[in-house]
Amino acid sequence: MVLLTGYKKIKTAVFISGTGSNLNSLIKFSKTNKSPISINLIVSNNSKAKGLNYSKIYKIKKKVFNFKNKNLTEKKLLLELKKNKIEIICLAGFMRILSKKFVTKFKNKILNIHPSLLPKYKGLNTHQRVLENNEIYTGCTVHFVNSKLDSGKIILQKKVKIAKNDTKYTLSKKVLIEEHKLYPKAISKVFNL
Ligand code: GRF
Repeated sequence: MVLLTGYKKIKTAVFISGTGSNLNSLIKFSKTNKSPISINLIVSNNSKAKGLNYSKIYKIKKKVFNFKNKNLTEKKLLLELKKNKIEIICLAGFMRILSKKFVTKFKNKILNIHPSLLPKYKGLNTHQRVLENNEIYTGCTVHFVNSKLDSGKIILQKKVKIAKNDTKYTLSKKVLIEEHKLYPKAISKVFNL
């Protein structure tokens, strides 16, 4: 997608809405020598998102946008991204759908992580639906974001076996552990590392 130039890491923004455990794993990865990215901005639509605490912990700039007026918010967001020279966006538990216009401006430069083996189980409540359908496997997917929900080109997936006694809570924990490993791997893959 984008070639690494010199030793400079690619400035990345991570968009969150909640706990931010994927954000934490991405920040840790970004600090390693093998990471092509640096995390320079944390964006949230939710001022109470727990994940915003990582801004303090790691001294990374944060910005909250309420998304009440999507069009206006996205305009402000684009300005903020430009100001911070952001080249790549990683969605990590971000609960707002970005407009086609926004996505087009960052074509092939927005990644998302989803807790299912896409194209199966797009959208919300994936673990619950997976269990209701008596699936044997679930997993997680990192994909490029296009204008359709959870439908962009798949970068990497990881399968997780479902145990008989799994609940949506135990499953979500198991899948999250894999998500934390998969997102950095997918980023390395995108940059041919
Ligand atoms: C993850 O399961 C992610 O796949 C989904 O939302 C959850 C976010 O978790 N899109 P966290 O905020 O990264 O802990």
